[in-house]
Amino acid sequence: MSIQVKYVLVFLLTLALVGGAFVVGLTTLRDRVLRNEAEAVADQVIAFRAWVAGTGMVWVDKLAKDFPDFLAERKCDDLTFYGKNPALATRELSTIANKTALRATYLVTSDEVRQPANQPDAFEKEAIANFKEDKKLKFIDGYTGNTYRYARPIFVKKSCLKCHGQPEDAPQAVIEKYGSEKAFGYKVGDVRGIVSVKLPALNWQGLLSIFANPIAIGLVVLAFLLNFMFTQKVIIKRLGSLTSDVTAIAKGKLSTPLNYTDPKKSNDEIDHAYHAVNLLKKSMVIIMKKLKKK
Ligand code: HEC
Repeated sequence: MSIQVKYVLVFLLTLALVGGAFVVGLTTLRDRVLRNEAEAVADQVIAFRAWVAGTGMVWVDKLAKDFPDFLAERKCDDLTFYGKNPALATRELSTIANKTALRATYLVTSDEVRQPANQPDAFEKEAIANFKEDKKLKFIDGYTGNTYRYARPIFVKKSCLKCHGQPEDAPQAVIEKYGSEKAFGYKVGDVRGIVSVKLPALNWQGLLSIFANPIAIGLVVLAFLLNFMFTQKVIIKRLGSLTSDVTAIAKGKLSTPLNYTDPKKSNDEIDHAYHAVNLLKKSMVIIMKKLKKK
């Protein structure tokens, strides 16, 4: 194999390794960006729940067509108000968000759902099981197909016990609507459920396609040409003329001029090789003279 072929192979291998490093870096970046985005969504969901919880319930005087559920009813003069507790209000908000969202969708779910629409999928069930096993886990994330998944635990606080502790303590409306079996018997600190966020993710083909643009390809071709020209000019051409010079000297043409920079002024190894050949040539001249004298 010529140096040029070897060099091209090394170049391609280097390119593949650098490309691999890039894809690994981009994958990490993608994971971070998606996690940040999912965290922001989960923060919003938790903040919204906290806001509703802080007001007790959200009272509305009209039940929208898609959202007929309520947990309490109050009459004021000739107006009727319907109360939506945090979980209910969050579910209704998530239904709207999931219908219109361009990216993030979310669900508050549990391994013991009161509301059938909150049913967890396989990823969510596993996340809940992991949070129950390790209470210190802050979040769990991963991918199902091309979807990024993120889950954060929701713990039971004292204020939750009214509706998730013992059924006897629960408001009548909860028992009437959801029965006295579902999602009761929790203690403070238990994992009640999770906030689950879904985001569309790039797969590795998508990541690779980032490089498939004219500028990136042009830069790689430019790098290749630069390397090719460099090896041609600095190594291969000079080795070629060194070879023909040495061949000429070997054939007796001791006057062949050797073009190189003095090693004192150059760190180039080929200049050093030239210099060695020059020394050899000079010794040959001396030996020839001595031989002629004899
Ligand atoms: C006023 C009663 C009430 C209180 C207080 C309450 N919840 Fe709930 N919770 C409900 C009801 C009712 C549902 C079902 C809502 C629906 O239909 O979507 C529910 C549902 C949930 C869900 C969704 C899973 C499911 O069962 O469908 C989670 C998670 C949850 N609650 C956590 C909590 C936590 C944590 C607290 C305390 C911070 C709390 N809840 C306080 C009544 C309550």
